[in-house]
Amino acid sequence: MMQRLFSIVALCAVMFAAQADLKIEDVATNEVEVTGEMLFIGRCGSCHELPETSALKPAQWKAVLKKMQKRMNFLKVPPLTDEENKKVYGWLTR
Ligand code: HEC
Repeated sequence: MMQRLFSIVALCAVMFAAQADLKIEDVATNEVEVTGEMLFIGRCGSCHELPETSALKPAQWKAVLKKMQKRMNFLKVPPLTDEENKKVYGWLTR
């Protein structure tokens, strides 16, 4: 009985892992659209707390994005592509 319960739990774990894999693959192959919000949370939030998006004006955000790009280069973090920068900018100034 215990043995059987254990296999069911193990099977569920395998199925769950397989499902998670699929999602990661979808993102990697761009089948799932990566939004500005996702980039903001994932990339901007990787170095510091997320800033309040309403705190700055569009022109100020533009300057911040340039500054952060330099910081990413300096800290050997892959910088955002032009496309990604546009999406984050869109989210910051929404
Ligand atoms: C490679 C690390 C890194 C990434 C990625 C990063 N930042 Fe920063 N950011 C910093 C550092 C370092 C500071 C200055 C120290 C601090 O505030 O923690 C900073 C400060 C800031 C500040 C405060 C004002 C300033 O210029 O000091 C804002 C606003 C900001 N970041 C926004 C962003 C946004 C938006 C993104 C995403 C596009 C982002 N950061 C991505 C490292 C990073």
